[in-house]
Amino acid sequence: MDINPKDIKILHIDSNHPTLWKQLEEVGFTNEADYTSTKEEIEAKIAGYNGIVIRSRFKIDKAFIDKATNLQFIARVGAGLESIDCEYAEQKNIHLIAAPEGNRNAVGEQALGMLLSLFNNLNKADREIREGKWIRESNRGYELDGKTVGIIGYGNMGKSFAKKLRGFDVEVLCYDITPTVGDNNAKQVSLEELQRKADVVSLHTPWTPETDKMVNTAFINAFTKPFWLINTARGKSVVTEDLVTALKSKKVLGAGLDVLEYEKLSFETLFTENNIPEAFQYLLDSENVLLSPHIAGWTFESHVKLAQVIVDKIKAIYFGDAPDTEEEKRVTGIGGIFFKAEDPAGLREWYKKHLGINTDNYGWSFWWKDKNGDDGMTQWSPFATDTDYFEPSQKQFMQNLRVHNLDNVLQKLKEEGITIVGEPQAYDYGKFGWILDPEGNKIELWEPIDKAFI
Ligand SMILES: NC(=O)c1ccc[n+]([C@@H]2O[C@H](COP(=O)([O-])OP(=O)(O)OC[C@H]3O[C@@H](n4cnc5c(N)ncnc54)[C@H](O)[C@@H]3O)[C@@H](O)[C@H]2O)c1
Repeated sequence: MDINPKDIKILHIDSNHPTLWKQLEEVGFTNEADYTSTKEEIEAKIAGYNGIVIRSRFKIDKAFIDKATNLQFIARVGAGLESIDCEYAEQKNIHLIAAPEGNRNAVGEQALGMLLSLFNNLNKADREIREGKWIRESNRGYELDGKTVGIIGYGNMGKSFAKKLRGFDVEVLCYDITPTVGDNNAKQVSLEELQRKADVVSLHTPWTPETDKMVNTAFINAFTKPFWLINTARGKSVVTEDLVTALKSKKVLGAGLDVLEYEKLSFETLFTENNIPEAFQYLLDSENVLLSPHIAGWTFESHVKLAQVIVDKIKAIYFGDAPDTEEEKRVTGIGGIFFKAEDPAGLREWYKKHLGINTDNYGWSFWWKDKNGDDGMTQWSPFATDTDYFEPSQKQFMQNLRVHNLDNVLQKLKEEGITIVGEPQAYDYGKFGWILDPEGNKIELWEPIDKAFI
């Protein structure tokens, strides 16, 4: 696309971290702010804009979209898009941008914080001490160790929470309507299995017709054991009255609720005094309930990260992907070193005996953890001198480098005139492609199949 950024007019209707505005301005986009006009007033002028940046101020419905005749994108500085009529916007070819990558870490940490706080009565005990009470026995806590945690909805937020649980000796299960989303951190199971095994349930589903009022009496009673409930997803997915019934019967042992059925779509208000539903009053009076005002994703760090994700995604619409995001990096590490040997079997034995390296028929797989704590592997392998695997290189060794996205990397290398050797191949442990460096060294490029090999 041949774009003059000046021609792209962006209306910001909520304030965000200043970096968002600053970076869009640096690109050259025309930015305007209107944080106070009503929805109707904004509707009246929206035809003059190509992009809108919103947090949660109002709903973007059909009527709004119909008036936004020049809109090319709607960017929501947050995770969910339920305040936007996405289907209609897509019909009108409007790009939809959200930024779950920006607050998923915050949500994972807060869900864990709520759970540990509930298990150890921290908020209750703190309140008691402030009132001059030193009560130990009734504040005896529970341990997470040995429990089963069930995550419902295994997307950005669910995965982040599962990652945080890695240091605990817990079994983590996930249930999701999308197949094969489970990973090393959570085993995907049916809802029935999760309900049979879970001691803790954490909701991480979007608010949809299927998840609206999902956690009701029938859902709760389908659990075999009493359980703790954490909800950092959407308040309307839990029927508060039914939760209260379950808290009373001790089927639900405690609840950490960052979101409430009663909060407004803007997430900015709850309700005025004198208007407190009975079920909510029960939560307010319960010592095993922990409440927070929709702040799981609301950290100093996520404020910046959300803004950055939005900037990157808006730029990507007009100019293609940013070249050096983590995702786009060409090589992400050393995958292995392969070399020719007169007697590979003898050499493997020598390394085993004298260097204590646990070699097998393929050499040695060295396992390690990256800075995020994810498993990684580097392969060391001697090959027979007559191997054709290093061809056309005449060298005695071959490097293997890990890449994030093999197809992208090969495409870019091809455009840069680099010699590509043969056709890319897919195996059980990932995709492979081969290139030559200027000295004729053959480099194997490896896109590992899953996190375990990254
Ligand atoms: N409290 C906060 O501050 C905060 C911050 C960020 C996100 N959220 C909320 O967290 C939730 C999850 O966000 P996300 O970014 O992980 O979404 P996501 O789209 O990345 O993941 C949601 C997952 O839920 C699954 N799902 C959808 N319907 C389901 C159903 N009926 N049963 C089981 N699984 C179902 C989807 O297949 C998907 O894998 C959303 O409701 C979002 O609004 C809250």
